[in-house]
Order: sequence, then structure tokens, then C-alpha cells
Amino acid sequence: MSSVLALGARLGVQRAALWAMAARGDDVARLLSAPWRGNPYPVYGRLRNGPGVHRSKTGVTVVASHELCSKVLRDRTFGVRTADGLQPPPFVASGLSGEVPVIPSFLELDPPDHTRLRALARPAFSPAKIEGYRGSVAVTASKLLLPLAFDDQFDLMAEFAGPLPITVISALLDIPDVDAQVFARYGRVLGASLDGVRSVRHALAVRRANRELRALFTRLITERRADPGDDVISVLAASDELTDLELATTCELLLVAGYETTTNLIGNAVWAFARHPDQWERLRADEALIGPAVDEVLRYEAPVQATARIAHEDTEIGGVPVAKDGMVVVLIGAAGRDPAAFDRPDEFDIGRGRTDHLAFSSGAHYCLGAPLARLEAEVALRKLVEWLPELVVSGTPRWRPTTVIRGLRSLRLYQ
Ligand code: HEM
Repeated sequence: MSSVLALGARLGVQRAALWAMAARGDDVARLLSAPWRGNPYPVYGRLRNGPGVHRSKTGVTVVASHELCSKVLRDRTFGVRTADGLQPPPFVASGLSGEVPVIPSFLELDPPDHTRLRALARPAFSPAKIEGYRGSVAVTASKLLLPLAFDDQFDLMAEFAGPLPITVISALLDIPDVDAQVFARYGRVLGASLDGVRSVRHALAVRRANRELRALFTRLITERRADPGDDVISVLAASDELTDLELATTCELLLVAGYETTTNLIGNAVWAFARHPDQWERLRADEALIGPAVDEVLRYEAPVQATARIAHEDTEIGGVPVAKDGMVVVLIGAAGRDPAAFDRPDEFDIGRGRTDHLAFSSGAHYCLGAPLARLEAEVALRKLVEWLPELVVSGTPRWRPTTVIRGLRSLRLYQ
């Protein structure tokens, strides 16, 4: 399986598991895959009630309280692969890789491989390094908003929330202008596979995207090894410790992990503000609240709602036994609304001042791109405050029919 698909499998693991479990009459799966997607929080509340941990009829453990989600993510007894090195569950049929050679990315690896590969990528994403991009991200945001000023209304997702992250990642990796469209198109296809592959048509598009992106990265890696710049590919190549395949896999990880997620953070933020005009007024009056507001959106409407772990030995969580190689689904979105962790959890309050949500995960796999995601969302909100002081939404947007990723199909705004 390609690393990109495997990454989709990891983030899409809950959905895949849900399909399989629901087919076998599983109770928790039925709850989670019911048509609640517009508002998953009541269901999360039911799963969180009591000990905050559930064992479904088919034996998958689901944790929903902030305390237990945090514990599973930090506890080294849990990892991301089974003892024989497999990732659960195989939700995409093999053969979707587009016949490119595949290895797991570090998101899908346990120590020591995870530690080695993550350490090589970490310097390129340090908070100081990322802060240096603030000016150029702001210029990109302005360029995207400028043409929209001439329209009465526009779709924030298609015209701004989607293009901003892909343009930023393209710049970080220094994707040449001629390849930028290809990169964005296939990045979108693979980003959409984070929640699982939906149809044969989607599967074919994913195969093609895998092939095309691998060809692009292979070419760029050869060029950057010969003639390095100061982009992320050159920095990673300079370490001499990564094979070409590891380097291409890491680039694919950065694209897939950083695109759809950041798009949805921006969309979820704007929709939260549209439903809470008092909070938008507060933000307009005090731009120092932009950073805290981004964290509040991450808590309130996490773009990644769930992940999964595998027990490396027989253990227990919240008093429920978990056998070696057993899977635990971690409901990040439920943890953000846990009343035991947050006062008035269903209120959107940008003055809350809490950063201990689990939207970027926790422990060894804590999101490497968190500083970049925060920066992009901050810049986006600052620009929107400036350009669209009256935030008026046309109609009621629909959530995408996804389980792991939470984001809007479109969000039409009036000027
Ligand atoms: C709002 C935006 C984002 C959200 C909500 C998000 C969320 C996450 C989550 C939940 C994980 C860990 C999954 C797990 O523990 O199983 C993760 C890992 C990761 N993310 Fe992000 N992410 C975002 C943006 C980004 C960006 C912009 C990048 C880079 C361009 C990025 C790169 C990564 C990488 C490399 C990992 C793997 C870390 C590891 O396994 O050690 N992410 N992200």
C-alpha cells in the first residue's frame, strides 16, 4: 500500500473499522455511522458517558473522554502497528498504489524508525522556522482574496480555504510553477482519501494521483540533490540519511497531512464565527484573540475527529482489558467536548485560553505541522477580519459525509 494510502488508512482507520463492524452488526459502529454527521456531538456524549471507554460488540475499544484519549495517545504501550508490523485494518484494497514502490511514512511507524525519520523532518517545521513564513503566507492570502472582492458572493472553501494550504506547501517544497497545478490537483485527490476510498472511480483517481505525484517528487529529489536550494526537499536531502524512497514518502506525507486538514480548520473556523457573531465582534475588536481563537476552533470543531492505536501488549484502559494487537479508536472530537475537561464544552468561547485539546494528537505522533497549521489559520482569520468585517453566510452549508475528517463541502459568503 502506498504511504499516502496507508496514511489515509491510519486517519481513515475508524471509518474503515466502522464499515466492517457495522456489517457485522456492531453497536458502536451503528451509532457512529448513523446520519448524525452534521452534529456528531450528541453521539460522542453517549459514548463518553460513564467510564469514557466502550468495548463494541466486535471487540474494538473506543475511548471518548479527554483523560482516556490523552492517556492512549501518550502511553508507549500503544503504537501504530501490530507485532508483525501490520497496520489495522486493511481498508483499501492493495493495487491502489499506482504500482509505485511503497514504504510506510513515519506517521505509520513505531520507534525506532519513527524517531529517526521524524527527527530528520523536525528542523524544517520548528516554530522559529515556520514563523519566518508569516509574511509570505499573508501575501498568498491577500492574492487569493483580491479577485474575490469583485464578486457579490464566493465559496470560501473552493476559493480560499483550499488554495491557501496547497499554495503554502507548494512554496515550502518549492514546487516549480509548471507543476503547481498538477500538485494541487493530485494533492486534492489524495487529501480526499484521508477519509477512505469511496468508489471505483475514486480508487482510479487515487492510483493515478499516486503515480503522478511519485514521478514529480522523484524528479525534484534528483534535481535538489544535484543543485540544492533552501526548500524543505533540499533540506531533507542534505542530511544524506534518507533514501530517495524515504524522502519521496515524507514529501507525500507532508502534502496529505497538511492540505485537507488545514483547509477544514479555516472553513470550520469561519463557520463557527458565522454562527457566533458575538465572538466575531470580539475578534474584530481585539486581534490578540486570533491565536486563542484558532485553538478554540481546534477544540470545538477538530478537523481530524479520530485516530487509532494498537496495544503492543496485553493492557487495560479505563478498567477495560485490551489484548495485545487490539485496536483502540481515539475520538479526538469527543475529547474536545468533554465537560470533565472543559467548562461549558458546547459553547464557542474564543477567550477560553485553553490549548490542551487533542486536535493535533499528543505524544510521539503529535502533529509535526501544528505550527504551520496554526500560522495559516491565524493569517487567514486576520485577513478575513480585514477584508470581510461583516461575515454573512449564504444559506446553511452542509458538512462533508465523512467520519474522520470534519469539514464543509462549501461555505458561501456574501461580501
Ligand atoms: C489543522 C491542520 C492539521 C490538523 C488538525 C492535523 C492533525 C494531525 C493529527 C491528529 C496527527 C496525528 C495522528 C495520530 O496521532 O495518529 C497529525 C500528524 C502529522 N501531521 Fe498534522 N495536522 C494538521 C496540519 C498539518 C500540516 C500543515 C502538516 C505539514 C505540512 C502536518 C504534518 C503532519 C505530520 C508529518 C504528522 C505525522 C507526525 C508523526 O507521526 O510523528 N499536519 N496531524
